[in-house]
Amino acid sequence: MSLLIQGGTIVTHEISYQADIYCKDGKIAAIGQQLEIDKDTQIIDASGKLIMPGGIDPHTHMQLPFMGTVAKDDFAAGTAAALAGGTTSIIDFVIPSPQQSLLEAYQQWRDWAQASHANYSFHVAITWWDESVKEEMAELTQNHGVNSFKHFMAYKNAIMATDDILVASFSRCLELGAMPTVHAENGELVYHLQQQLLEQGITGPEAHPLSRPPSVEGEAANRSISIANTLGAPLYLVHVSTKEAVDAIQYAQNSGHTVYGECLAGHLVIDDSVYQDSNWSRAAAHVMSPPFRPKSHQDALWKGIQSGTLHTTATDHCAFCAEQKAMGKDNFTQIPNGTAGVEERLAVLWETGVNTGKLTPNEFVAITSTNTAKIFNIYPQKGAIATGSDADLVIWDPKASKTLSVDTQMSNIDFNIFEGMTVNGSATSTICNGKLAWHEGELFAKPGDGKHFERPTFAGYYDSIIKKNQLNEAKPVAR
Ligand code: URP
Ligand code: ZN
Ligand code: ZN
Repeated sequence: MSLLIQGGTIVTHEISYQADIYCKDGKIAAIGQQLEIDKDTQIIDASGKLIMPGGIDPHTHMQLPFMGTVAKDDFAAGTAAALAGGTTSIIDFVIPSPQQSLLEAYQQWRDWAQASHANYSFHVAITWWDESVKEEMAELTQNHGVNSFKHFMAYKNAIMATDDILVASFSRCLELGAMPTVHAENGELVYHLQQQLLEQGITGPEAHPLSRPPSVEGEAANRSISIANTLGAPLYLVHVSTKEAVDAIQYAQNSGHTVYGECLAGHLVIDDSVYQDSNWSRAAAHVMSPPFRPKSHQDALWKGIQSGTLHTTATDHCAFCAEQKAMGKDNFTQIPNGTAGVEERLAVLWETGVNTGKLTPNEFVAITSTNTAKIFNIYPQKGAIATGSDADLVIWDPKASKTLSVDTQMSNIDFNIFEGMTVNGSATSTICNGKLAWHEGELFAKPGDGKHFERPTFAGYYDSIIKKNQLNEAKPVAR
């Protein structure tokens, strides 16, 4: 199976240049002009278009069992939507129930993901702690290609990781060469504010952002960073949505710590006015955590991306339809938290980042693909256009204009948070594992075409971090 992309401009995170790309057996086999190709090679004309590494979304939740229901986009639908938008790989989350074996949960998610159209890998959440969790973390890193563990600092009485768990798990991550990641919101404060709002009779979606003010995220960002720094562990903060969290990350980086930040396409363009919508369903459709913020936070997020304080963009794709959101009709704390976006991320970031002059096309590639590949240790297998890399590519027409809408989306839900937004620039073809997976509105990939990819640990790199840890120099005082 071979494919030649002819006449386009290659855009990587570093450079842009004209060359053809020959893909064979799922890999990039050659880059250049007048390439030697097999005689049955499929040829794609990319004249006037850009060829970039396929998007990697480091934060999705396909068919997640959550808040009494299951996210509507399963792996088949969610990854089809991803391909339609130029994303060829997702990193989803295995979220074991408290007391559930990590390996059992991991196997469950692997089974579900077999129906994927695009490539996938998994972070695993640490939702409880004992010796068996510690052992299973080792098994996952050593034999299953998991190199990152997620900690929800919110969702009290469900999956919240308390400080004792953060300390134990971050330490274990450091021993194993894995990356600890956090959803940074103070779950105790959220719970307290939720009860107060309900007591005051404020039960609608407008209460959601009031129960999760920016300080709730700022506190948790600072705390998790302090815990990681004290242990000498690196840290990756998912869906950073506030100036407070960006400042905390920047402060830690300026002090020499390895802290990474992710932000969501949604948080960059949608503000908290959506919760004031007089239509309950429309307001509830935007209930996700952390919530959409006042506009001033968007400026901080953009500056965070432009300055390199924030490294990756994601979607937190966790799609619930109106009927599911209605579970919280009388109590906003019961509205399933989550919004979609895996299909729109690249186009939204191109329109609001590149077309406004905030980002160069090369920086766009860095924040939509390459940086994620580097941070999660799959570069240059993914996130690169180089001989030997996986042939996961997007052919991008910077002139193609379209209006994002629920009426044209692939996602299974009945809402689009970007409804009505016109984007100039979108994916015309998506190549996944060297095959044309999506082309001009048509899905060619089949369920099961997506491949699981393993992510090796950072063992060697972490050895040097561990050696630097001041406790290694500690000695008892002889008395
Ligand atoms: O509201 C959200 N983000 N739902 C998915 C779970 C999470 O917090 O990431
Ligand atoms: Zn989260
Ligand atoms: Zn999430």
